[in-house]
Amino acid sequence: MHTITYHTAYDHQLTATQHHAIRALLDEAFADEFSDEDNDHASGGVRVIAMDGALIVGHAVLVARTITIAGTACTVGYVEGVAVVPARQGQGIGAQIMRQITDMAQRDFDIAMLSTGKFDFYAKFGWQRFAGESFVDDHGTIIRTAAEDEGLMLLTPLSHLNQPGVQWVCDWRTGEVW
Ligand SMILES: CC(C)(COP(=O)(O)OP(=O)(O)OC[C@H]1O[C@@H](n2cnc3c(N)ncnc32)[C@H](O)[C@@H]1OP(=O)(O)O)[C@@H](O)C(=O)NCCC(=O)NCCS
Repeated sequence: MHTITYHTAYDHQLTATQHHAIRALLDEAFADEFSDEDNDHASGGVRVIAMDGALIVGHAVLVARTITIAGTACTVGYVEGVAVVPARQGQGIGAQIMRQITDMAQRDFDIAMLSTGKFDFYAKFGWQRFAGESFVDDHGTIIRTAAEDEGLMLLTPLSHLNQPGVQWVCDWRTGEVW
């Protein structure tokens, strides 16, 4: 077994073969529930990739999104595509990836977010449950996305923003808006 190495990369720094390998990893880890829209959401950011030799065994990406918080448009770091290949889960790879993503998020953004059902996993790295109210700006119409509130997590020192009644409005995108 090789030592796992961790790398950061922008999309243009990866080969087509590596992009295909990441997609295959995400399809496998999410049991084929990773959609083309999800894949689009994982594009354009900084990826953290875990490699076992030449094999990609883990991945996450930090992308920039505009979220309007209490009326102010903010650039937020949004985490997508967190996955470890099933055969290598439970070996600390996901934790190492999330430590790097969390460090990057704290360095580069005042606020970072993600959407998950695996709260305990992210809580280990300091992520907190979302306490505000989520909305989407659907081409100019602001629509409440109440069902999304529960899955959102946050990383920010600006704790006054993570309070009941504070409105968080994401820009519309295809697929899952949050
Ligand atoms: C979630 C996932 C990325 C974790 O990666 P991993 O390499 O298996 O995790 P690690 O071995 O680094 O575990 C780190 C810690 O998180 C815990 N953990 C792992 N998966 C967890 C989960 N699903 N829920 C809660 N805690 C979890 C581990 O028990 C471990 O705790 P410890 O430090 O107290 O021992 C991985 O299981 C995966 O790819 N799952 C399928 C895709 C997925 O659901 N991604 C997240 C979507 S938001």
